[in-house]
Amino acid sequence: MILVTGASGYVGGAALKRLSERGHSVSAMVRNLGRAAEVRAAGVPIRIANYDDRASLERAFEGVDRLVFVASDGDARAVMRQHANVIDAAADAGVGHIVFTSIVDMDAASTFYFTPVYRDAERRLADRGAGATILRCGLYADLILSSWLRPGRGTGEMALPLGEARVAPISRDDIAEALAIVAASETPGALYHLTGPKAYSFEEIATAASTAFGVKMRYAPCAPADYLERLWAEMPDPWPHAFSSLCISISEGRYETVSRDFEGLVGRPAEDFESFLRKAGLKRNSRKSV
Ligand SMILES: NC(=O)c1ccc[n+]([C@@H]2O[C@H](COP(=O)([O-])OP(=O)(O)OC[C@H]3O[C@@H](n4cnc5c(N)ncnc54)[C@H](OP(=O)(O)O)[C@@H]3O)[C@@H](O)[C@H]2O)c1
Repeated sequence: MILVTGASGYVGGAALKRLSERGHSVSAMVRNLGRAAEVRAAGVPIRIANYDDRASLERAFEGVDRLVFVASDGDARAVMRQHANVIDAAADAGVGHIVFTSIVDMDAASTFYFTPVYRDAERRLADRGAGATILRCGLYADLILSSWLRPGRGTGEMALPLGEARVAPISRDDIAEALAIVAASETPGALYHLTGPKAYSFEEIATAASTAFGVKMRYAPCAPADYLERLWAEMPDPWPHAFSSLCISISEGRYETVSRDFEGLVGRPAEDFESFLRKAGLKRNSRKSV
């Protein structure tokens, strides 16, 4: 049986749906039944557990052959502890194959807020001897849309401290597709880098958004300190630090490499950013909101 964590969230839910529709024996792990309406409606068996509660994880992992482990998010120390709980509980329960969503930004020299968290998780997976497949994910196209493009639409300006950086975004739907394929068919031990098929400058991203949404947008490089100050006014700790350090990492070129691993796994290229934005624009227009 394949157990999918984060099943009430986007990536886990989309991977679960694919596995279930393809006839695999699959169960969903959620921490809160109240957030699992779609999973319940699909009739997929549910196990309730929290990354913070080791005993609940041990119960959830009984009889599980393969675990799709969608990384946690939030305060770095908490996330590191949660990842350790999941990896240790899965290894103790004899889960044969853990498929983990890591990040491409793994260099020890990176100052990205979450890099030490993911380095720790990958090290633990190797040390615990649990069979693992690591999917190192590039920047989500969805993050660029929700965190940078949509908020910038009012002013028509995407002000970010990214200099001349380029990124190769990949959609969460494509991450889910890769997860489903790996969980269903692969043997443990592989490492994949999942990126979009093309690297874009932020001018190109703004142009693509202008075309997709019919609203003029431009990229306006700004100073890191100005961006950080804006973030502190907009969001709670730790997100200002997470986003500002992400921008430093991006401007150091850590998200620009294009990998063909997705195509090798799935048999088609990942969706390009223009197509992702076109679909996002259509969805919003069909809801009669911009
Ligand atoms: N590469 C990138 O650009 C990028 C960008 C953003 C995020 N990420 C990573 O990708 C992951 C998946 O993204 P997403 O969009 O699918 O996120 P999402 O929609 O927020 O889903 C996160 C899932 O994790 C579950 N979860 C969180 N804390 C948990 C805990 N303590 N115990 C058990 N379950 C817990 C959530 O449960 P609830 O529904 O109960 O909250 C939810 O099901 C994120 O968690 C983050 O690690 C990557």
